[in-house]
Amino acid sequence: MQLTWHDTCDGIDWEQLSDLYRAAPLGDKPPEALRTVFGNSMFVCFVFDGPAMVAAGRALADGVDCAYICDVAVLPAYQGQGLGKGIVSALVERARGHKKIILYANPGKEAFYEKLGFRRMRTAMAVFENREQAIAWGLLE
Ligand SMILES: CC(C)(COP(=O)(O)OP(=O)(O)OC[C@H]1O[C@@H](n2cnc3c(N)ncnc32)[C@H](O)[C@@H]1OP(=O)(O)O)[C@@H](O)C(=O)NCCC(=O)NCCS
Repeated sequence: MQLTWHDTCDGIDWEQLSDLYRAAPLGDKPPEALRTVFGNSMFVCFVFDGPAMVAAGRALADGVDCAYICDVAVLPAYQGQGLGKGIVSALVERARGHKKIILYANPGKEAFYEKLGFRRMRTAMAVFENREQAIAWGLLE
């Protein structure tokens, strides 16, 4: 397996990224929305096996205080081989110097992030556009 790692959005096929999230699965994320959110993220990470995109993630950051990691996903056939860990570690490394690096895990994925040094926040709160869905997914009380 010859993997290549990319840390810019140059040449990214957003349809391919959308397919990756659907397969992972991490939901239905339209290509144009992905272009916007990745384009607005200070740190991005993509992994390719030849022409196939097999893993991705990004972090929003303000350059000093706070970085927020999101959209971390690995194609099912490539899961369990250290790629998720590699993506998160690369984003954490690039965000080093920020006072805090935060994220919220999909329910069931908390232990994955705990292994990478993340700890539960006692006072994390959020406003979700679709509150009922966030409750149904187990993200909100
Ligand atoms: C969660 C995900 C990104 C993990 O990526 P991965 O490449 O399969 O994970 P890795 O192989 O890098 O695992 C790193 C470590 O975390 C552990 N781990 C992975 N998934 C885990 C889970 N769901 N629960 C607990 N531990 C987990 C691995 O056993 C490994 O442990 P080790 O270092 O002691 O060997 C991947 O399963 C995925 O894309 N899932 C679907 C999308 C998703 O839910 N993304 C997360 C959004 S919050």
